[in-house]
Parts: sequence; C-alpha cells; structure tokens
Amino acid sequence: MRHTAGLRNVDLTNTPASSLRFLAISGSLRATSSNSAVLEAARRIGAPELDVEIYHGLDTLPHFNPDLDLDTPPPVIGALRARIGAADGLIISSPEYAHGIPGSLKNALDWLVASVEFPGKPVALISTSPSSAHVVAQLAEVHTTMSARLVADACITVPVRGRGGDPESLVSDPGIAAPLRRALEALAAAR
Ligand SMILES: Cc1cc2nc3c(=O)[nH]c(=O)nc-3n(C[C@H](O)[C@H](O)[C@H](O)COP(=O)(O)O)c2cc1C
Repeated sequence: MRHTAGLRNVDLTNTPASSLRFLAISGSLRATSSNSAVLEAARRIGAPELDVEIYHGLDTLPHFNPDLDLDTPPPVIGALRARIGAADGLIISSPEYAHGIPGSLKNALDWLVASVEFPGKPVALISTSPSSAHVVAQLAEVHTTMSARLVADACITVPVRGRGGDPESLVSDPGIAAPLRRALEALAAAR
C-alpha cells in the first residue's frame, strides 16, 4: 500500500555493486520491534547492489536543546549528521505512539532541523500498520517542513505488526519483500 503519489522506478539489478548507500532509522527502541525488523529486511533485500545501513544510536542522542546546537554540536549529533550527509537516501520506519511520532525519533529529527545535510535528502517513510495513519501524516509534515524530499513510491505500508521481529521471515515473504524492494528501487531512482 503506497501512502502518496509517484515517481519512476529503477531496476536495482542494473545498478553497479554497492553504488548506493541508504541510512535506515527505526522509530522503535524495542528489541523485537516490527519496524526495526522491516528495516533489517530491507537491508538484506538491498544487498549487494545497495547498502542499507541501520542507525542504532537513537537512544544515545541527548535531548534536543538549541543552546547545544552550536557550530560544533555534541559528537553523537555530529556523527548522525555526517552519516546522513553520506547517505543517498533515508528510510524511516516508525510506530505510532498516542497518535504521534515516538519521542526518540522526533528528538533526532529536531537535531536535524538546522543541519545542512537533511534538506533535499530523498526519504522513504515505511509504516508497519495500516491503522497508524497519524504518525505517517505527521512524519510527512515534519519531513516536508524540514525540506527533505519525500519519495512517494517509496512511502509504503507493509502490514507486519504482530508478526514479531524476525527479519528473515519478512525477506522470505513475497508479499512483504516485493513491495519493500519496489520502495528501495523508487528511493534509488530519486537520488
Ligand atoms: C505507548 C504506546 C502508544 C501507542 N499508541 C498507538 C497509537 O496511537 N496508534 C496505533 O496505531 N498504535 C499505537 N501503539 C501500538 C504500536 O504502534 C505498535 O505496537 C507498533 O507495532 C509497535 O512498533 P514496534 O514493533 O516497531 O515497536 C502504541 C504502542 C505503545 C507502546
């Protein structure tokens, strides 16, 4: 299921080995998170012609404070911005908490508001639940406000909520793997 309307696709099989690098951020810190599992499945599907790197530092970021957002920000923030700058695109998969964006993910996004790395970056928004429309809409609004480039065909819902956090079962399910691969292709086409 696609959230919004579209861009052309690129066949990843014609892309040179590891020529693209996407950074994936899960909005869930749970060990058996379905959102993290989807991103790990995308990482496995994307290789070898596409590197999907998973960002694991969401729970290490300080609370956003403009007073700390100086020319030299906290090292973990500088590292996050550098990884975003080096990425050809971002993949965000997030649960909905109380009809909104989980605080840890919103905190990371707040740190990126003033960054030079974020504007113009192609972004795929993934949801693991069709009933979590609020968080999708809010993430779209926040990313648009932050001048990221939402890639319509890469913004999808893969209904895996309640299936546990096993990425391999997602990779081996064509009903999940195929739309995920198409989303990666759309993100690749938008770089
Ligand atoms: C504190 C809390 C609030 C939640 N609020 C909502 C909500 O407003 N809407 C919704 O669809 N799901 C809500 N959920 C359910 C989660 O979005 C759902 O369990 C999701 O799959 C968790 O993602 P994860 O497996 O990646 O951790 C909430 C869960 C928690 C723990």
